[in-house]
Parts: sequence; C-alpha cells; structure tokens
Amino acid sequence: MRRTPMPPEIDSTECTGCGICVQACPVFTLDMRDGKAVVDRGEWCIECGHCGAVCPVDAVVQKKTVVAPDLTVGEKAAVSPEVLMQLLRERRSVRSYLKEPISKEVLEQIINAGRYAPTGSNSQRVHYLIMTSPDEISELGKEIMEFNAKFFKQLEKKPFALLMSMFIGRKKIQELLNYGPAILHAQKRIEKGEDPLLRHAQALLLVHAEDWDGSPAFNCAAAIYHCSLMAHVLGVGVCFNGWVENSVNNNKKLKNRLGIPKDNKCYGAMTMGYQDIKYRRLIERNLPDVQWR
Ligand SMILES: Cc1cc2nc3c(=O)[nH]c(=O)nc-3n(C[C@H](O)[C@H](O)[C@H](O)COP(=O)(O)O)c2cc1C
Repeated sequence: MRRTPMPPEIDSTECTGCGICVQACPVFTLDMRDGKAVVDRGEWCIECGHCGAVCPVDAVVQKKTVVAPDLTVGEKAAVSPEVLMQLLRERRSVRSYLKEPISKEVLEQIINAGRYAPTGSNSQRVHYLIMTSPDEISELGKEIMEFNAKFFKQLEKKPFALLMSMFIGRKKIQELLNYGPAILHAQKRIEKGEDPLLRHAQALLLVHAEDWDGSPAFNCAAAIYHCSLMAHVLGVGVCFNGWVENSVNNNKKLKNRLGIPKDNKCYGAMTMGYQDIKYRRLIERNLPDVQWR
C-alpha cells in the first residue's frame, strides 16, 4: 500500500551545512553529519518536498517532487488577511444555476486546485469523478432520492429503527428521521420535473479515497474545498452535497456504476454551475465555540 519513496539526495559540494532542510523535514529523513546534511532514513520520506523548498543554495536534489520552475514564494503570503477573509466570506453555496455549460478547461482548473490541498503523510490519495451531463446528473439525483425515500420508509418501522440504532446510534437515527418529511416533499417536486437535490447542475464533482488510508475524509474535504474556492474565483457557483456522498457509500450498485473502487469511499461531492442569483450581502456566523487552555 505504502509506495516506495523516492527520497532527495544532498549535493554535498553545494551544501553549506545550515541544517534548515533537517529542521524542515517532518519525518526524520535527513540528519546532519560532519557539518553537512545527509539522507539517513530515505525509506521514511513522504516526498513532501519541504527540504528542497527551504534550501537556500539548491543543494537538495529532489528526484520526485517537481519544483515549480516559474513560481517562487514571495516574502509575504500571496494575499492579505483582509482579502482572504473577504474571499472566505463571499463564497456561498449556490443552488441555482444557469443553463450554461462549464468548459473542460475551467473544470480542469477547478480540479487542479485540489491537488495542492494537504493530505495526511502527503499520501495524495484523492480521486476525482466528474459528471458533465446535466441530464445524467438529474437522473442521478432522482435515483438518490428514491433510494433515500425507501430507506426512510423502512426507518419509520420501529423494529428496523431499533436494529439500525444498534449500528449507528439512537441520535443518528433521530437526526435521519428529521429529514423524512423533506425527502417526501422533494420526491413530489421531482414528479413536477424539478431537481431539488442536484438543482439542474451543469457538473457534479465527487471526491473519493481509499478508506484504509490515514485520513481519507480530511484529505478529500480539504481537496474539494480547495476546488470550491477556485470555482468561486472563476465565477462558477458550487454547493456541497451530503446526499450524494452518503448515498454512494450506502448503495453498492450505484457506487459500482459510478466506477468507484470497492476499497474507496466517497468523502465529498459538489454541484456546479454558473450562478444565476447574485449574493449582495455577506452574512454573520455564530462566534466560534473555543476552549482556551
Ligand atoms: C458536508 C456538507 C454537506 C452539504 N450538503 C448539502 C446538501 O446536500 N444540499 C444542499 O443544498 N446544501 C448542502 N450543503 C451546504 C450547506 O447547507 C451550506 O454550506 C450551509 O448552509 C452554509 O451556507 P454557505 O455555504 O452558503 O455559507 C452541505 C455543506 C456541507 C459542508
């Protein structure tokens, strides 16, 4: 499962022995010996590229991690705290889309942003599935609704609910039951030709990952959130969708049909399309629930 790592090499003629690479290495791959950096535990390398990124004299030869040739890191972060906060606050869920397709180039730019999200141990095990046919997406929405409606009808039967609560807990069952009326309402809307779940989206992005990986849920969430921010700055509206994620993971047939491997789980999904309602105001949120110690 763990790939064979390709650790860096140290060009000892260039190395000045400053030790910054050793300090930056998260997994003890590098050490100092006789005043120079050396690769001591290459097999532990996670190919994060930190050593090469911090070396002031280019003495770290990265075999695998490709250094972006045209981009350097400035003295200050790329955007100010104010600009970042504005961006974070103006990104909102968009559930109403124009009937305008999103070009492949734009979709590729959105997905590309996911690559730069952090992953546990730099596993980079995040996989993307993108659907671009609005009809197929709406059909999927219908199927997901039917699947959930069936489940809720079962859940209303006490013995089934009791049995389920042994697996997922009473609170979760109660939480799921709260959604029952909305699901039945949504089904009626589907009968009228509406798409209350996937909102006639122009594209649907799913992220999935091997469930045995260290932090697959976080990895996927971070990646898809990166994608959502890139979508936002490209003018594409997105909305995360928990129904897709849950239904794919609980419906083997659907998961199979979508081509998601058996070992993988879907950890995030978002609908996409050009926004047809403009948000004119920012909103306030609850203050953070913080414990300072
Ligand atoms: C994990 C997750 C699942 C979500 N699932 C849905 C969903 O199934 N349908 C939907 O309309 N919105 C969904 N949302 C969007 C939330 O309702 C939304 O983020 C929240 O109301 C805050 O609004 P904002 O995104 O505009 O700031 C989901 C959001 C997250 C983070």
